Amino acid sequence: MRSYITDPDAPRGLRLDEDAPEPQPAPDEAVLAVEAFGVNRGELALLAVRDRDWRPGQDVAGTVVTAAADGTGPGVGTRVVAIVDGGGWSERVACPTNRLAPLDDAVSATDAAALPIAGLTALRALREGGSLLGERVLVTAATGAVGQFAIQLARAAGAQVTALVSRPESTDEARAVGADVVVADLEDGPGGYRLVTDGAGGDVLRQALHHLAPHGVIATYGAMAGRTELGLRDLLSVANPRIVGLVHSEPPGTRGADLGVLAGLVASGALRPRIGLTGDWTEVRDALDAMADHRVRGKVVLTT
Ligand SMILES: NC(=O)c1ccc[n+]([C@@H]2O[C@H](COP(=O)([O-])OP(=O)(O)OC[C@H]3O[C@@H](n4cnc5c(N)ncnc54)[C@H](OP(=O)(O)O)[C@@H]3O)[C@@H](O)[C@H]2O)c1
Repeated sequence: MRSYITDPDAPRGLRLDEDAPEPQPAPDEAVLAVEAFGVNRGELALLAVRDRDWRPGQDVAGTVVTAAADGTGPGVGTRVVAIVDGGGWSERVACPTNRLAPLDDAVSATDAAALPIAGLTALRALREGGSLLGERVLVTAATGAVGQFAIQLARAAGAQVTALVSRPESTDEARAVGADVVVADLEDGPGGYRLVTDGAGGDVLRQALHHLAPHGVIATYGAMAGRTELGLRDLLSVANPRIVGLVHSEPPGTRGADLGVLAGLVASGALRPRIGLTGDWTEVRDALDAMADHRVRGKVVLTT
């Protein structure tokens, strides 16, 4: 089968291996025929540091071609969305059955492949805020892959959502995604946020502390704006703030169930993945270049 593999001698350190070994599934793994895969900013960084012969790819959508031997998970022919540790930029990949979810016919493979890392990060960040009905939520890096999901999920949870954008041209995009208020400067927002989902880091994270509600939470998952320096004055600017360093993979055992939540919201129309770039998987290097140059707004999804 065909599968991407790292090769320092190839353009962008990546080569399409035409004779890759078929996946060898563990008893709790199904084999999927990959129809579409998502590309994440984190994978750009991983590609730069991994050795030769590493197979990238975590976000996939496709069809079960071999069911798990232990009897768990869906049967052959079921369309699924899945999150794997690697090897997703391939024609076929093995995936533990607790990391996949069946797809409704209404959900395209392209939309599904946009969900895993960005959607799980947003969903799990929002859960850090508890019940958000009627609460104020701030979403930074608002028009990014994660931010657009955070805005939509916070709205679906009944929150009043403020989007913080880093450039004026993102304002209309953040509004189109569903933010109630869009600001380029935190001083212009309503403040009193029960929850901040933060992909910006840098001074944005420090400033966000000053705009939290008492006992508010910052779920920080990215640092597009660089390092953050915090002093005691920042940490004591509201009563008992909480900062959670959030990784999409935690908790690990319920990734499939949470993908099911996200896919269900897409099926019902409550969540619409914003896809900034689609194409054939042979164009993966162009897609990586576009991401590295910040030319893509929203998710990158390629089809096999
Ligand atoms: N912890 C985890 O598990 C996890 C999971 C997924 C992603 N991440 C990380 O989270 C970050 C965002 O990921 P993503 O997939 O959403 O990336 P993305 O799609 O590239 O979006 C990033 C967004 O950040 C904003 N931005 C860009 N430069 C900025 C700056 N200098 N200061 C403030 N904001 C800036 C822009 O939104 P605006 O124009 O709206 O400001 C941009 O759309 C990345 O660092 C990624 O590696 C971590």
